[in-house]
Amino acid sequence: MGLGNFSLKSYNTFGIDAYADNFIEITTEDQLIEYLKTNKDFFVLGGGSNIVLTQNIEKDVLYINNKGVSVIEEDDISLLIKVSAGEVWNDLVMWVVDKNYGGIENLSLIPGKVGASPIQNIGAYGVEVKDTIDRVEAVNITTGCIEIFTNKQCEFEYRTSVFKTKYKNKYIITNVFFRLKKESYKLSTSYGDIEKELNYNNIINPTVKNISDAIVKIRKSKLPDPEVLGNSGSFFKNPIVKNEFCLSLSQKFSEMPYYKVDDNNMKIPAGWLIEKAGFKGEVFGNVGSHSKQALVIVNYGGATGYEIVKHADRVINKVKEMFSIDIEMEVNII
Ligand code: EPU
Repeated sequence: MGLGNFSLKSYNTFGIDAYADNFIEITTEDQLIEYLKTNKDFFVLGGGSNIVLTQNIEKDVLYINNKGVSVIEEDDISLLIKVSAGEVWNDLVMWVVDKNYGGIENLSLIPGKVGASPIQNIGAYGVEVKDTIDRVEAVNITTGCIEIFTNKQCEFEYRTSVFKTKYKNKYIITNVFFRLKKESYKLSTSYGDIEKELNYNNIINPTVKNISDAIVKIRKSKLPDPEVLGNSGSFFKNPIVKNEFCLSLSQKFSEMPYYKVDDNNMKIPAGWLIEKAGFKGEVFGNVGSHSKQALVIVNYGGATGYEIVKHADRVINKVKEMFSIDIEMEVNII
């Protein structure tokens, strides 16, 4: 299905009006494998929630839109499900939460598709998707063969995996297998405002649904809805710095929050650094740093990818100047 001169505006959550030469919707693995037999130069698009389009894409855009959720194994305590990459992430979360299975409720309302979830190991409110992923099925672009990556082989770390590092652009994820808990699971309620929200609603023994509802409420109060204000969630990663450096900085900025990563390293919230650098709520033409969460860059309407990247550079440079920290982008610049 080649459509020519196809606008990608509704296919990226920043709402950037870039064009694709040719847009091909992939709905089955067979179709993908057939395509790969004769084509090697293309751009893979999932939910478009982690990209900044700075130019038109002068090649085929493969829109991965296969659908399906199936139960592979089930026992008294857990459930293994196979989910197609093209499923909308939050639709999956709602399906799982509705059935009272535990594991991904803290990841409610994250934009994007299931296929992208392992690539950057999506995470929120004290949980990362790596804790639930059993294995990932992907097509090797060079050979056209389906390969399986166990959880370990995915080499998950904070906002990254093998699909973002050594196998970047080498595989197309087609299915993700999740191991969900049926009972006796431990809910993760300690992060941020979750407990406050549960207390506010007088919930003492929360269910999976209670947690999901609380997170939806918290996210809605802080993070802009891409349908209303184009954005890609956190634009930057939270920087990880050496203990000594963190200590010297916290002597200078006593109110600076930081969290332990391991014995040698601390994580500092980039949102705090960016706010402190004066960008929170500031508007520069069509773009700016969000007024409720400085980690998010927003498109106030009609922004180009170039303007967004320019703003990101402005933020990076100022943070570097003030704190001597290099913050890295979480999104992919295309
Ligand atoms: N903070 C500020 N100013 C801001 C934003 C944050 O001072 O403008 C401070 C907060 O007060 C808090 C700390 O920074 O002390 C952490 O803030 P928050 O809990 O909002 O989390 P975050 O570290 O900024 C991360 C994820 C989010 C995720 C939240 C909640 C990254 C890059 N981002 O943000 O993920 O929703 O935690 O778990 O790790 C995403 O990746 O798109 C995303 C939204």
